[in-house]
Amino acid sequence: MSKSPHALLIFALGQFTDEFIPEAENFRRAANDPSMSRSLSRAEDIASIKRQPLLMPVYIVEADDGSIQKLILPVHGYGLWSTMFGFLALEGDLNTVAGLGFYEHAETPGLGGEIDNPSWRSSWIGKQIFAEGQKDNPALRVVRGAVDTSEPGAQHRIDGLAGATLTANGVTNMIQFWLGESGFGPFLANLRAASDLAASELVEQDADEDALEVDEV
Ligand SMILES: Cc1cc2nc3c(=O)[nH]c(=O)nc-3n(C[C@H](O)[C@H](O)[C@H](O)COP(=O)(O)O)c2cc1C
Repeated sequence: MSKSPHALLIFALGQFTDEFIPEAENFRRAANDPSMSRSLSRAEDIASIKRQPLLMPVYIVEADDGSIQKLILPVHGYGLWSTMFGFLALEGDLNTVAGLGFYEHAETPGLGGEIDNPSWRSSWIGKQIFAEGQKDNPALRVVRGAVDTSEPGAQHRIDGLAGATLTANGVTNMIQFWLGESGFGPFLANLRAASDLAASELVEQDADEDALEVDEV
């Protein structure tokens, strides 16, 4: 069983805090404020967002033992006609997609607007963001046409949207940016390190308890 989600507000550079920071809640306004955002170089700005807020809200759903059950990240990037705003939910392994949904965009209904199609959205569930041993570089992308599930790497591929390759490319760029080094990459690395530490402490604690039991016998 999980607790209700709670908001953590993080610096895009990888630190997080549970302090309430209004600018992070309203990160879209912050993106227009030079003191709350940074300009992205053309090479870095693969999602075509021009400015990146320095603070973003993230949401963690915790399991009863305090481990991460789901991590929900705000993501946005330019499609063909508009900036698409959504949330990407990851499982506790910080790699498997639990879901992707957009709450705002102006792509064409029936073409790019198919990013809202429930069947396409459900095709994301269970896909893997990172390839084994390559946590710095997101592998997940939308392809043209259908994914060949017999091919290696199919777990990192999403079926394309017919007649809407430009929007689909925007979705790929959005994922590559936000899960990469300029986006949530450093934050994910911190979370992984923290959960590895917690797991090793748990093992040590178990070992101590076993030792105690032996003493008592
Ligand atoms: C009126 C109009 C609206 C379009 N809207 C979209 C759109 O929202 N997203 C998109 O990727 N392509 C849209 N397209 C098509 C693109 O121009 C382009 O042909 C398409 O993205 C290529 O994808 P395909 O290779 O899968 O056919 C639109 C085209 C027209 C004429």
